[in-house]
Formats: sequence, structure tokens, C-alpha cells
Amino acid sequence: MKTNFNHVLSRRGFVQALAGTAASAFLRPASAAGADEHQIRIARGTARLTGAENPSTAVWTYNGAVPGPMLRLRQGKLARIIVENGLDEDTTVHWHGIRLQNAMDGVPGLTQPPIRPGERFTYEFTPPDAGTYWYHPHADSLVQIGRGLAGALVVEEAEPVAADRDLLWLLQDWRLSSDGQIAAGFGNMMDAAMSGRVGNLITVNGSPAAATDVQVRAGERIRLRLANASLARIMALRFEGHRPIVVAVDGQPCDPHETQGGRLLLAPAMRVDVVLAMQGDPGKRYTVVDDFYDGLAYTLATLIYENATPLRAHPLDAPVGLPRNPLPVPDLAGAERQEIVLQGGMMGGGKLKGVGGMMGMATPGMNGSAAWAINGMSMTGDGHAGMTPQFTVKRGATCLLTMRNETAWWHPMHIHGFSMLVLSRNGAPVPHRQWQDTVLLAPKDTIDCVFVADNPGDWMLHCHIIDHQMAGLMTVFRVT
Ligand code: C2O
Ligand code: CU
Repeated sequence: MKTNFNHVLSRRGFVQALAGTAASAFLRPASAAGADEHQIRIARGTARLTGAENPSTAVWTYNGAVPGPMLRLRQGKLARIIVENGLDEDTTVHWHGIRLQNAMDGVPGLTQPPIRPGERFTYEFTPPDAGTYWYHPHADSLVQIGRGLAGALVVEEAEPVAADRDLLWLLQDWRLSSDGQIAAGFGNMMDAAMSGRVGNLITVNGSPAAATDVQVRAGERIRLRLANASLARIMALRFEGHRPIVVAVDGQPCDPHETQGGRLLLAPAMRVDVVLAMQGDPGKRYTVVDDFYDGLAYTLATLIYENATPLRAHPLDAPVGLPRNPLPVPDLAGAERQEIVLQGGMMGGGKLKGVGGMMGMATPGMNGSAAWAINGMSMTGDGHAGMTPQFTVKRGATCLLTMRNETAWWHPMHIHGFSMLVLSRNGAPVPHRQWQDTVLLAPKDTIDCVFVADNPGDWMLHCHIIDHQMAGLMTVFRVT
């Protein structure tokens, strides 16, 4: 692992100036009293994914619904979530993006035993950061998420922020067959070694994109939380006639900014909070389009302006920025450097020849075999005990992590237990102080990130295109 980090370290002043305030984040639940309590039962159900007039689709649900209930927790307040498994297979719940103690992270065989059919597990944690998160299973993930198990999780700021309305769109992508049921063929080698199981129906909060009409009023300010809960579909959203201002990425507030061409890249597992000044004309309609894949653009939602006088004559002038979360400040000068190299996939991404696997190195082409590797190792599935950590970081140390994508494919790389400040992409500084738990790498990208290893345990680091994760694009690191 030899890489030149001097270009990064020379920007030390830059990063120190940008880092947030330090605080200790991992409060263990001291007493059960006063916890926000929620119950989630996982079971089979049905949903009207294709529209009210069409037959319903058999799905797997949290509390009977797709997506699952939106959980609202409070920053710095203990939450207790009792999960009951009504499926006939093991599951767990991972609280994606929340910095919590390892035992509550929901990775079977690594942080907890799986929740067996008919069993319960109680998750308790105190979310240190406000923002937009989500939850999903970490067992048989491809099938369980692909059959609908996903829900939004909002951690509320202590003080409300200036917006007239707070909306959330949980985006899901389904591969349905012509009878409107979820198509078989999960984990086939074609999906696994290429773009993953991209579907043919997108839903917004469980309703088909084509039927997603959102009533708005001229003059209002909307905070819109976008969460991509797809297995594999990367999205690039454009808001016709509007200029969304990004105020948070993966839950963490950033410097408010507009993106290039107003296009919002949203890979699987990513969240983006935007502030929208509704400056359209009363009575008019504006589309929100996803045009990430060439030739496959579609309308995700339609904003429909009421035929009413604007709520206010001029956009709200209260600041759009959100209060910072208590992220620990990285010490770049003393940072420990680690590198992960993403390898494999079809077509020019480098072959998997000579890769030493931990598990699942079965006959190529069989389900469950490896198509990808990290630093020459393929860890397949959802998380197992016994995986040697790829690297170890001392508790409290700053880790400067380089992720190098040698493949010909896009990968949203997700780190459990931490938020990382994204420093640079292909040598160019990344602006706006973006802390992320899911970092999208384009083919051949090299990205430098940094985080303080303040949270002990064995943690997952994997691609969130679930086919890629299951087929080897996953690893574990240890903080001791
Ligand atoms: Cu969103 Cu390892 O997970
Ligand atoms: Cu990937």
C-alpha cells in the first residue's frame, strides 16, 4: 500500500479550518427511562406498487407497509426499537448512517447473532447526529431489500430549522415481471458482475413514480429529504424550473450549495437534503427527472402548484444552513493512512485471477461466488464472523482512507459506524465540507476521505450496490 498522500497533507490547514466541533458521541444508554420506543414487526404483505387500479404485489414489510414506517428520533435522546422477525428466515436491522455502538449496528455474525424467525431483538442507541438516515436488513440483503424491506429514519434537530414544510421521499427500485410480481433471479452472475439488479419500477414512498404528484404552494420553502433505498439504481435528479440547494449529504450538514447543472447524484444508500424555494407559477406543473442512465430518463415526480396567491412575495430569507453535528475533528498531520483498492467486475475492470478469497470462492458463475474483491480479498454475503480485518486503527486515531476504483463500474462505498469527510476526488479538493457514510466512486476514481476512529469494534465497509456487496465488494476493519 504505497500511495503518495502529500498532496492531501499539504492541505492540512484547509481541512482543519473546515472540520466541525469535537465532542464525544457515543453515549451508552444509561437508563431505559424516557426512551423513544418503537416496535417493528417484519412480515410478508402486499403493496400497491403499480398503482391503485392494478393488482397488488407480494412484498416483505416492516409493520405491514412498504416502505416501512418513517421513524422520527431525537438527537441525543435514547431510542429503543423492538424488532420482531415474522419472516421464515433470519434477519437483522442496520441503522444506516447512524454513528452508534457496534453491538447495535445490525450485522449478523459480526455485531450480533441473527434474529431468527419468531424472535425479537431490541436495539438501543442514542443518535448523536441529526439528519436523514434509513434502516434496512443486513441478512440475505439482496432478497430482503429487493422485496421491500427499507424505511426512513429522521433524527430531528434540537431546534427546528427554517422551512415551511419538511418532506421525505424514500426511493425504491423494483424488478417486476409482467404479472406485477417481484421477479426471481436474485443474485444472478450477470447482475452481480455488472450494474447490479437495476429494476423497472421506481416508487416514491411506495407509490409509482408516474403517479407521484406533489402539491406545492408558490412562495413556500420546502426541505426535501431524498433517500435512495434501491438495490442498485443510481439516480441523477433534476428539478425542472427549480434550483435545489444541497444542505446535507448522508444526514450531515454541509455548506449550502447548488450542484453542477442542478443535477443531484444519488447512489444507492445515499441521502441528500435540499432546500427548495418554490418559485414556480401558481397553477403550473414541473417535473423531477432522473436521467442517470443513458436513454433511460423518466419522471420521478411532478410538482403541482396550487392555483393560489404565493405564500410570500419573496423567498424566505432565513439562512438555509443546518446546525452542524458533533463530529470529531480529524488530525490530518497525525493521520494513519489506509488504502482499499476495488477490483473485479466484467469488462476491463481487471480479472479476479489469483484472488485469495475468505468465503464463497465457488465455481465462477454460480450464485454466491465472487465477482469482486477489495485488496485481493473477496468477502461475500452479508457479514460473517471470522473475517480477518483488512486493517486496524487505534481508537482515537485519525484514519486517512484512500479508495481506489480499478474497475469499470460505479460503486457507492459505505462505511459503518462513522462519517467520513471527503477530501479529494482524483486529486481535486472536494468542496462544501461533505461528510458522508456512502461515497460514490465513478469508474477509475480515487477518493481520499478522513475520519476519527473514535468508535471501537469491527465495522463493515462495502459497496451498497447489493449485488456487488454479496459478490465480494465488502470488507471489515477494526478499531481497538
Ligand atoms: Cu446500508 Cu452495510 O449497509
Ligand atoms: Cu459496487
